[in-house]
Amino acid sequence: MTDNFNLIPQPVSVTAGSGVFKLTNDTPLVCGDGCDKAAAYAARLFAVQPAEGVESGGLRLNLDADSDIEPEGYELVVTATEISLTAADENGLFNGLQTLRQLMPAAMTAGRSADCDIPAVSIQDHPQFSWRAMHLDVCRHMFPVEFVKKYIDLLAFHKMNMFHWHLTEDQGWRIEIEKYPKLAEISAWRTETPLPEDRHQYDGVPYGGYYSKDDVREVVAYADSLGITVLPEIELPGHTIAVLAAYPELGCVGEGYKVRVDWGIEDDVFCAGNDQVFKFLEDVFDEVLELFPSEYIHIGGDECPKVRWESCDKCQARIKNEGLKDEEELQSWFVGKIGNYLASKGRKMIGWDEILEGGLPEGAAVASWRGTEGGIEAASQGHHVVMTPITHCYLDYYQSEDRENEPPAFWWPIPEDQRVEGGPSFVGLVTLDRAYSYNPHEGVPKAFQNMVMGGQSNLWTEYIPNEKQAEYQTYPRASALAETLWSPLPSENRDFDGFIGRLSHHLKRLDALDVNYRFPKENL
Ligand code: ACM
Ligand code: ZN
Repeated sequence: MTDNFNLIPQPVSVTAGSGVFKLTNDTPLVCGDGCDKAAAYAARLFAVQPAEGVESGGLRLNLDADSDIEPEGYELVVTATEISLTAADENGLFNGLQTLRQLMPAAMTAGRSADCDIPAVSIQDHPQFSWRAMHLDVCRHMFPVEFVKKYIDLLAFHKMNMFHWHLTEDQGWRIEIEKYPKLAEISAWRTETPLPEDRHQYDGVPYGGYYSKDDVREVVAYADSLGITVLPEIELPGHTIAVLAAYPELGCVGEGYKVRVDWGIEDDVFCAGNDQVFKFLEDVFDEVLELFPSEYIHIGGDECPKVRWESCDKCQARIKNEGLKDEEELQSWFVGKIGNYLASKGRKMIGWDEILEGGLPEGAAVASWRGTEGGIEAASQGHHVVMTPITHCYLDYYQSEDRENEPPAFWWPIPEDQRVEGGPSFVGLVTLDRAYSYNPHEGVPKAFQNMVMGGQSNLWTEYIPNEKQAEYQTYPRASALAETLWSPLPSENRDFDGFIGRLSHHLKRLDALDVNYRFPKENL
């Protein structure tokens, strides 16, 4: 009977009680030591007031570091007289509050607006994976701070714990760096944008913008108030022509760069032989680290063509002087140098799986996106891994085979003679049930599974020009992925029908939060 409450993600253990707790404006919010942030959030969500000296009853938050509750886990006990939430850490309290939010009537998900009944229940819960992230590309298209905050609120609502903010790209640099003002003046702007329905035609409209440091501080503080870490991504050595447009001396050729308009992969990247590049990156990271307190920093590392390095005297001299074998090892050397800098500042580096090529720098974690092979290889070498394969986690892909009736998205056809019987006719399809079948441990030998920190969804925005479409692509697939990262596998496979049953109610919560999700008409 655990599905009665339609919770997403499904908790580890749910036992229904009898009766209800009446949550009203008079319900006291009683908090133990160390609960201040969670208390502020609870007061906001449930419209209750902190009270002191109340011995029993009310909504009670307790932090007990000595309890045997798992990291980020919680125990939530609702009786007719009391709601008691206990956790061993602050994130556990936040996760428990999200469950309590789902126990309210769906219409009140955005905040309690009237007296309401909370069903009596006892829930013990904790996540299966510690890395539960959602990525947003704000470079191909940019989104207002208010939308970014809403995106973070929604990921917190699903007990995800990290917002991966993809801030720099060929098509636009989106974060203010005081030492390099031309990043905001030049790198943040492109002359036009490809049309969604035909990427080889262009709209002729200049496009751009960037987040000021105050914007970034606002987002990081908001995320923190919900227990969410913001993971910044600053791309290197590739996906950087927008930087070269402003500071051409940082490229191998040294001139003729423009912020890229076309989607796809750019040949012009940072010159690995030029020491100024590392001075630039260290300066940028100095300012980035000041804004983002995250343990990890994402350095990109994907899709870096080597053609410029092959014909650049400085890059070739670097290969020779450092005793490197080839351009692959030059990339590894480049990434490793940045990793060392971050480590000297007490941070850890994560990059996309291409950073495996030429040798994985010491201490680097890998986000495996082209498949799971990179992740498995990195784990077998003793590196931490985040699984985010295109096959399950790419929310920019189509959610239905019926492309004609979906907004344009990323895809390419599979030739007829290469199709799997009954399989899709194109690459770029992640249906809801496919997302729900995700398992970050799949294919990973047991001996290395402990190196898999978790997974994440990615939302690349080439084909996502506005907020409505960003939500359409994200939900409900992100609800499914959230469950795959939080909830234990009930057996060999997850119970998709059970998920869909709960989702039909959960969609009402998303309605209350004004989310423009895609209605899963194939399933409901
Ligand atoms: C990626 O999708 N290029 C990481
Ligand atoms: Zn070079």
